[in-house]
Amino acid sequence: MKNLLVRVSAVLLILAVNGCVTMSGSAPQVRFVAHRGESITAPENTREAYELAWRNGHAWGVETDVHLTRDGVLVCCHDPDTRRTAGVDWKIAEKTVGELKTLDVGKWKSPEYTGVKIPTLREVLTTLPPDGHIFVEIKRAGDAFAEAFRNAFSGGGVRSCQISFISFDINELRNVRKLLPQNRTLLLVGLKFQDDGKISPSAEELVATLREEKFTGVDVGVGTHPLPREYVDTIHDAGYEIHVWTVNDTAAARKLAELGVDSITTDCATKICTEW
Ligand code: G3P
Ligand code: CA
Repeated sequence: MKNLLVRVSAVLLILAVNGCVTMSGSAPQVRFVAHRGESITAPENTREAYELAWRNGHAWGVETDVHLTRDGVLVCCHDPDTRRTAGVDWKIAEKTVGELKTLDVGKWKSPEYTGVKIPTLREVLTTLPPDGHIFVEIKRAGDAFAEAFRNAFSGGGVRSCQISFISFDINELRNVRKLLPQNRTLLLVGLKFQDDGKISPSAEELVATLREEKFTGVDVGVGTHPLPREYVDTIHDAGYEIHVWTVNDTAAARKLAELGVDSITTDCATKICTEW
């Protein structure tokens, strides 16, 4: 009996080391990126959501969306206006940071967050622990972003290796790569899973784009579809990173972890790690 137990343990250990299985109860062997902070609980894209993500201790990184105010400051908000999160339909590009700071972007989520203010990117960067990472999503940038980015990053003590830029817009990502070549650049792509089993764009097509643009990798949206191992391997074998968004289901996260993706963006890192 003792011999049998030793043998079973040895086999399980070999399988786990080779990445063939993830043993239930073991710590997740994948990096989680808290999407808009720990946004399942706290109001998205606020200091409170980022501080909660770091405090809970499951996030390797956090994700934020940035927009430029009329007076040239980068603030964190998913939408280009404040209608959904503040109940007041202000276009961020038409308001100063001072004006935006008069809004309450917390109480829509829960009364306990009443009074929470929209944060600047600079303020969100101050929440990062010394080895914390941030994905900064550029929705729409343009020339004025150059100075705004420099202002947001200067003197804050956050190193370039802690910041990855992400964007669906290849032109914006190309610009930021030229502007800040030391930072990682990940192209956001929502994958389409066709009825015939093909995925669009294919991994080979993505590799060709990454090679041409000299980006660090891709950050792909998979919805509820499983990602084939070959897809991940093709991108890794070509020397690029493959990250995945936005996965809130523990079983799906587990499968992606087994494939060796570079990170999983999720609204609920804490729930996933608790269920793991
Ligand atoms: O992390 C990528 C993801 O944030 C892209 O979608 O709409 O949530 O910004 P969205
Ligand atoms: Ca985003």
